[in-house]
Amino acid sequence: MSLLDSHFTAALTQREAAGTRRSLRPVVRQDGMIVRDGNGDGRRMLDVSSNDYLGLADHPLLRERAADWALRFGTGARASRLVSGTLDLHRQVETKMAAFKGCEDAILFASGWQANASVMPALCALSVARTGAPMLVFSDRLNHASLHHGCAAAGVRQIRFRHNDLSHLESLLAREAEKPGLRMIVTESVFSMDGDRADIPALRALADRAGAFLYVDEAHATGVLGPKGRGLSCGMADLTMGTCSKALGGMGAYIAGSKPLCDYLANHASGFIYSTALPPAVLGAIDAALDVVPNLDEERARLIEQAERLRTMLHGAGLSTADSTTQIVPVLIGESERAMAVAAGLEDAGFLTVAIRPPTVPPGTARLRLALHAGLNDASIDRLGQAVIAQTGGAS
Ligand SMILES: Cc1ncc(COP(=O)(O)O)c(C=O)c1O
Repeated sequence: MSLLDSHFTAALTQREAAGTRRSLRPVVRQDGMIVRDGNGDGRRMLDVSSNDYLGLADHPLLRERAADWALRFGTGARASRLVSGTLDLHRQVETKMAAFKGCEDAILFASGWQANASVMPALCALSVARTGAPMLVFSDRLNHASLHHGCAAAGVRQIRFRHNDLSHLESLLAREAEKPGLRMIVTESVFSMDGDRADIPALRALADRAGAFLYVDEAHATGVLGPKGRGLSCGMADLTMGTCSKALGGMGAYIAGSKPLCDYLANHASGFIYSTALPPAVLGAIDAALDVVPNLDEERARLIEQAERLRTMLHGAGLSTADSTTQIVPVLIGESERAMAVAAGLEDAGFLTVAIRPPTVPPGTARLRLALHAGLNDASIDRLGQAVIAQTGGAS
């Protein structure tokens, strides 16, 4: 019993009433399927909810190297990187990641959330220190929560442009042209809840004209898109952030860019300085993923083809998948309760698809987020499409 329990309960009740309360629902994975153990009926479902787009979380090489490095080097890094936590393994993986991304250097973080939330304030502090004025942060409205959190932590009021609307961004850059301070444009390359892409070459051109630094979050493109799965921003972003927790099948995150950038972050990003270094098992999985990912062109092509097949089916039934062109296929539903009911119906039909609701997405845009993976074949995509159409009744 804590002093604030009645307030906690009231806040949760409010969420319940709004249809946005969340709960943790354990799953068990067996032979590539998900089994819910909560209801005791052992129902097996195909996973179209998680971000393991290439199935690497089960890959034998990643398992072996993670286990091997844990056995050889221990289970913990024991300290922050700046104390005594830096192992040769960290630098080995950072160098390999930098080569994969075609950048001078890379620096690892414990998670993607932690990277965005602490790199953003570090970059904003640079503007104040060097110009005496706050950083002007131009950000896509649909950027991930961790990027918004980073700006809030920096005390910066973002200048938000309409989602993927580069004319709007251009007008905002022009409006602020005379303001002092450094400038930064922040976007995702593949938007996590919409599955659409930012136009990185056009953003690069705008950034060059405005003298702005370009920050690209490649969480959902890394491993999946671009040549050899290197993402969409190679050679174009000043800073690329990516996670190792999605298509790379592990955990952790990286920032890739110039050597001075990575060195600056090692000195100024609190999530790097004041947090224990990634442990050997996690590093082993990342190291192995970097060996495997460049060789998965066939899987990447299949994934994109399957997503196209699914979209075509859903569109044929009048459903909207927004502007998705990637392995993330949202099915727009509207109200939270209806999205929850559709997701529950799909579970009964053997598919785990999670309903995404406000505040994760804007009000009135609750959706199913179908996250495909390379192991799906034509037959399973067709069954999924038919089940979604049956549950929604078609026409978004
Ligand atoms: C666009 C984006 N950035 C960052 C993150 C955070 O990454 P992680 O899960 O590694 O903390 C996510 C996670 O969902 C994401 O979708």
